Amino acid sequence: MTNTDPIGLYIHWPYCTRLCPYCDFNIFRQRGADKALVQALLEDIHWWADQIGKRPLSSIYFGGGTPSLLAPEDVNNIIHLCKNVFGLRDNEEITIEANPTDAEAGKLHAFREAGINRLSLGIQSLDDDILKFLGRNHNAAEARRAVEKAVKIFENCSFDLIYATPDQQQAQWRAALTDAISLGSPHISLYQLTIEDGTAFKKAVQRGDWQPLPDEQEACLYDLAQEICAAEGFIPYEISNFARPGFESTHNLLYWRHHEFIGIGPGAHSRINKGGQRWAAQTLTHPKAYATEAPGERFVLEALTKEDQATEFLLMGLRLKEGIDIKRYETIGGKSWPAKQSNILIKDGLAEHTDTRLRLTPKGRLLLNSVVLDLMDS
Ligand SMILES: C[S@@+](CC[C@H](N)C(=O)[O-])C[C@H]1O[C@@H](n2cnc3c(N)ncnc32)[C@H](O)[C@@H]1O
Ligand code: SF4
Repeated sequence: MTNTDPIGLYIHWPYCTRLCPYCDFNIFRQRGADKALVQALLEDIHWWADQIGKRPLSSIYFGGGTPSLLAPEDVNNIIHLCKNVFGLRDNEEITIEANPTDAEAGKLHAFREAGINRLSLGIQSLDDDILKFLGRNHNAAEARRAVEKAVKIFENCSFDLIYATPDQQQAQWRAALTDAISLGSPHISLYQLTIEDGTAFKKAVQRGDWQPLPDEQEACLYDLAQEICAAEGFIPYEISNFARPGFESTHNLLYWRHHEFIGIGPGAHSRINKGGQRWAAQTLTHPKAYATEAPGERFVLEALTKEDQATEFLLMGLRLKEGIDIKRYETIGGKSWPAKQSNILIKDGLAEHTDTRLRLTPKGRLLLNSVVLDLMDS
């Protein structure tokens, strides 16, 4: 019997021209092209196809790092190989993340021709002072030019904004978001600035150079974003993601809906169901070590327990506006639904029942981690 469950491929390109002071992704400064890494990715695609068989991909996602630094020719070769060894489904989504510098915006046509049909632009802000604070290597005019160009080339495109920078006021956030939406992209990702361990921003805060925005003010900016996006016709389908109907990210929905995905490239994660077991794989994080190992030796494999799977199902699924299917939780976790605890969440205004599902209210989604702990403890 053929497996018709959706499955996607994530490709991590770890290089950036400049390392942003807030970022804790698996990133390395670019020092020229890394053809050995491209070769390793091509080998991985063959290797995974041998493992899972010819199973058409519903999505491919080039993430990073900065995958728009890849040569369009390499992107083309990767997509073609995927077509040949896995096959692609009808309406497959093929995304690349791009930084909005003029150099990268100059490659958008070539990416489209290579087979990319969705673009995700990291504009972060349209304000030069904020871009400077964030240590970005583009300015507001470049970001604006990049979005204007992107929406002409890609019907399906998205951009990222970071908000809740120190001192950001509601009026400023309202104006910034309204301005950004007017550029015409059908999908947007809005991320609250997070001070991650091990970053330059963490050190700056520890030194007392500046302080993050207090939690209550962050929550007000989050509420404001919900209000503005709803008024502009965007569905808040995930905590940080907003889309016009039909433009939700197919690939990211695989993660949130507990489906399968293969991750290749340094530091990428996979989740695969095989032999009645769900497996997690995480690849080596350093690009040199990665490219030196043989395919099949580039990751550490772990069998996920029912408990791990139930926690992951809740943590990912409750990020979504649609919430989770209670019966599916019971199948995945091998245990009954914690009805008593979920009723307390409903009574506290943090969750609501819709026929067979539980979903969080906007207030509940802000407290996601503690809500999931409550459900898992009971
Ligand atoms: C994997 S990054 C890659 C995007 C691309 N390299 C870029 O920077 O334009 C995806 C997004 O995560 C967000 N991000 C990364 N670190 C963050 C942080 N500490 N706080 C908030 N958002 C963050 C940024 O909006 C960024 O565009
Ligand atoms: S935010 Fe993007 S460009 Fe900046 S370091 Fe992270 S991945 Fe690289």
